[in-house]
Amino acid sequence: METAVRRNMILHVEVVDLLNHQVMMEQKASSKYLAMASWCDQRELRNSAQYFYNQAEEERSHMMKIFKFINDNGGNALSPTIEGITHEYENLKSIFEASLDAEIAVTKSIHNVFKKARQVGDFTSEVFLQWFVTEQAEEEEKVRDILDMIDLMGDFPLKMIDERIPKE
Ligand code: FEO
Repeated sequence: METAVRRNMILHVEVVDLLNHQVMMEQKASSKYLAMASWCDQRELRNSAQYFYNQAEEERSHMMKIFKFINDNGGNALSPTIEGITHEYENLKSIFEASLDAEIAVTKSIHNVFKKARQVGDFTSEVFLQWFVTEQAEEEEKVRDILDMIDLMGDFPLKMIDERIPKE
């Protein structure tokens, strides 16, 4: 969309489109985490539920950070529609595996916007996105550590595994 505002903005128009895509990705991650929190909460897996409630908040804060960045720099931030969030999971491990898949998808998407910003010389976006590149590496490592712990504990009762899940 070519509005007067967009023509005058400091950001590159193609980067803004990808940033809006990123807004959707972060909101989608937030919605997924909320569904995961609900699954855990219903099964009294308190630490896991709290972990996912916190993740849902965190992803929403990422979404807002990008949303505000777009508008603060003369772009047009678009409120995303999220559909197709599953509430069906086999077990706790499959939830954390789905969580890792979601984080990997977000990382790829962030790298894609970052690459475009660099390619078109949109330094404002590139510098802004650096924080997200670092954040994603930390997020992925956190979920991988949890999955390693779940594998190590193997056949231990679910409640004992849940006690080892960090709340954030
Ligand atoms: Fe904001 Fe973990 O993606």
